[in-house]
Amino acid sequence: MEKIRPTIGFIGAGVTGTALACQLWQQGYRIVAVNSRSLSSSDRLAARVKHCHVCSSAQEVADRAEAVFITTPDDVIADIAESLTWRTGQIVIHCSGVHSTDILEPAHKYGAYVCCLHPLQTFASIEEAIKNISGSTFALEGDSAVLDTGRDMAEAMNGNVISLKAGDKVLYHAAAVTLSNYLVTLMKTAADLWQSFGIPQEEAVKALLPLLKGTVNNIERVGIPGCLTGPIARGDVETIRKHVAALENAHPASLDAYRVLGLNTLSIALAKGHISLETAEEIRAILEKRDETEADQKVALFKQFGMDFATGFLDSSINKYQVQ
Ligand SMILES: NC(=O)c1ccc[n+]([C@@H]2O[C@H](COP(=O)([O-])OP(=O)(O)OC[C@H]3O[C@@H](n4cnc5c(N)ncnc54)[C@H](OP(=O)(O)O)[C@@H]3O)[C@@H](O)[C@H]2O)c1
Repeated sequence: MEKIRPTIGFIGAGVTGTALACQLWQQGYRIVAVNSRSLSSSDRLAARVKHCHVCSSAQEVADRAEAVFITTPDDVIADIAESLTWRTGQIVIHCSGVHSTDILEPAHKYGAYVCCLHPLQTFASIEEAIKNISGSTFALEGDSAVLDTGRDMAEAMNGNVISLKAGDKVLYHAAAVTLSNYLVTLMKTAADLWQSFGIPQEEAVKALLPLLKGTVNNIERVGIPGCLTGPIARGDVETIRKHVAALENAHPASLDAYRVLGLNTLSIALAKGHISLETAEEIRAILEKRDETEADQKVALFKQFGMDFATGFLDSSINKYQVQ
């Protein structure tokens, strides 16, 4: 039996709204209405899909469409949901990663259903967003009566759907920011280090990209912890010591990140199984900038009494980083 697809409207015609409109339209959904803060953004979306009416107000979108995406910045979604009049059975959707459907609560009093369909993807421009959105993971949360409708939309875009509870959203989004946004920061940090020996940022990024892509391939094909390479995975203590000294001297601003990420990497190296607890403890002492004597004493005890004894000495900082 053919599924009934709602007509769709968009309030907010930025990168996400426009990319979703294009993709859903290409998959056979009817995009019937759009309104954005500026007419030019509404026109830009309407020009990419057929038979989409540019509305003079957000209320007109709500009046014309059966399912309404509020694809504005996160901070105004609640105000828009609150300010409009909704209909019984209508579906109100937002795409925020951090907010749950709680911010759409005002729509409930009209008998409308609410749903969040978050594309777990990074949209830097409309053209890139249209390409990237297909095949993304979509996180779905909201009223059970409309989850299938949200799922159908995601699956029409070749998406992989995960279901979340309202209380999961903040941690879910923190994970996405850690992975996607901070990867940009890591690339910039690496390029800054290259600039200290004379290679400009653009050239550095180009030269570093194959390494980044190789790492992503290894994560995909080999998995964690097997994909971890480098001095911590090998237990090259002196290399870590050299890195810390060089960063301290030439680029102290990057040292804290190097230390913290290195400490988090220890548990992956231990899980991979190529380093001993003793070596992990030596590296940890360097990264934590702990008193050398204390670290030396601990290592001496490990050597004298063996690993079983050593395990008892490991304080929470290694245990808490254990890979599950
Ligand atoms: N960008 C991403 O990578 C990404 C990924 C996943 C989810 N999301 C989510 O998608 C949603 C939209 O984000 P975005 O990155 O697409 O933002 P965006 O490109 O800045 O687009 C937001 C649009 O909302 C319009 N707008 C602002 N205030 C408005 C109002 N009061 N009434 C009507 N329209 C208004 C803006 O209008 P004008 O252009 O007309 O001025 C703009 O076009 C957010 O919930 C965000 O969390 C974003």
